[in-house]
Amino acid sequence: MYGGGYIFDEPDKRQLKEEQLHDDPEKLVEFEARIARGEKIEPGDWMPSEYRRQLIRLIEQHAHSEIIGALPEGTWITRAPGFKRKLALIAKVQDEIGHGQLLYNAAETLGKSREAMINDLLSGKSKYSNVFNYPAETWADVTVIGFLIDAAAIVNQVANAKGSYGPYCRALERICYEESFHLKQGHDAFIELATGTPAQRAMVQDALNRWWQPIMHFFGPPDKNSVHSEKLMQWKVKMASNDDMRNQFLDAYVPKIWDLGLSLPDENLKKDPVTGKWCYSDPDWDLFKKVINGGGPCNKERLDVRKWAEEHGRWVRKALMNPAEKTTAPVA
Ligand code: COA
Repeated sequence: MYGGGYIFDEPDKRQLKEEQLHDDPEKLVEFEARIARGEKIEPGDWMPSEYRRQLIRLIEQHAHSEIIGALPEGTWITRAPGFKRKLALIAKVQDEIGHGQLLYNAAETLGKSREAMINDLLSGKSKYSNVFNYPAETWADVTVIGFLIDAAAIVNQVANAKGSYGPYCRALERICYEESFHLKQGHDAFIELATGTPAQRAMVQDALNRWWQPIMHFFGPPDKNSVHSEKLMQWKVKMASNDDMRNQFLDAYVPKIWDLGLSLPDENLKKDPVTGKWCYSDPDWDLFKKVINGGGPCNKERLDVRKWAEEHGRWVRKALMNPAEKTTAPVA
C-alpha cells in the first residue's frame, strides 16, 4: 500500500507512552474531573486509552470525509455555470482538502500515523460520511451539497468544536469559518435555481428528492441505536446527540426550503408545536448500513480515485521527503 511518507509526519513525537495505555483509576477520576470543569485535553496529557481510541476513530473518519467529499463536487469544476461559480467551486474544493489536512494533523497528535490512516481508508477499514457515496448527477446536486450538506456539517462541527480535545476543537473552529462561506455560496446557487425557470426549479426539486434521505442519514443512527454517543457525550467529544443535531438542522433549514416553494419527500415531516421537535418518517436505516459499509452507489468509484491519487502522487512525496534522491514522474 501507500509508503511514500508525508511531509507533515512527525512519528517520534507521537509515540504512545506505554503508561498511557493502562487506565489508572486515580488518573481516570482526575481526567473526568478536568472534563467536568470544561478544561481542554491536550496531546501530552494523560487520557484513557478508550478516549484516545474513540477520538482517533472519529477524527480520522471526519478527515477521510473531507478528502472524499471533495470528489463529487470536484467533477463539476469544469462544468459549473459561469466563471464566478467555477472560481467559488475551485476554492471550496481546495478548502475541503485543507480541512482534511487539519483533521489528519489533529488525529496524528493521538499517535496514529498519516500512512496508517490513509491505508485504512483505502482498504475500506475506516469509514467516511455516507453522503459522499452518491453521485452528483446535475448542477442542482452541487447546489444541494453546497447548501444543505455543508449546513448539516456546520451543525455537527459547531457542536463538536466546543468539545474536550484541544487539537480537534481548534481545527474545527477554523473549518467552521470556511464552511460558513461554503454554505453561503451553496445557498446562493440553490436560490438561483429555485427562483429560476421551470426547468431549473424542476432540476433542484429532483436533486432535493434524491438527497433528502442521505442528508437525514448524515447525523447518524437514532440515539437509541447509536453505539458511541453515550461515552462520547460523557467525555464531551460529542456535544449533541445524533437526534438533537438532526432536529437542529431541520429547524434551521426546512423553513428555508419550504419558503422557496419547494417540497421535501416526506409527508410526515412537520414540527410538533408542543415539544418543538420535528417529526419525520424513519429513513431506511438498512440502506444507511449498506452505504457506510461499502455498498453505496459510488463507494468503489470514490476509493478507486483515492487509490489512483495515492499511487500517482507517490513520486511527489518521495521528492519532497528526499530532495537529493533522483525521482522520476510515472508516465501517464
Ligand atoms: N456516515 C458514515 N458512518 C456513520 C455516519 C455517517 N453519516 N453516522 C454514523 N456512522 C457510523 C459510525 O461511525 C459508527 O460506526 P463505527 O463504529 O464503525 O465507527 C456507527 O455508524 C454507529 O454510529 P454512532 O454510534 O452514532 O457514531 P458516532 O457516535 O461516531 O456519531 C457522527 C456519528 C457522524 C455524528 C460522529 O461520528 C461525528 O460527529 N463525527 C465527526 C464529524 C464528521 O465526521 N462529519 C462528516 C463529514 S463533514
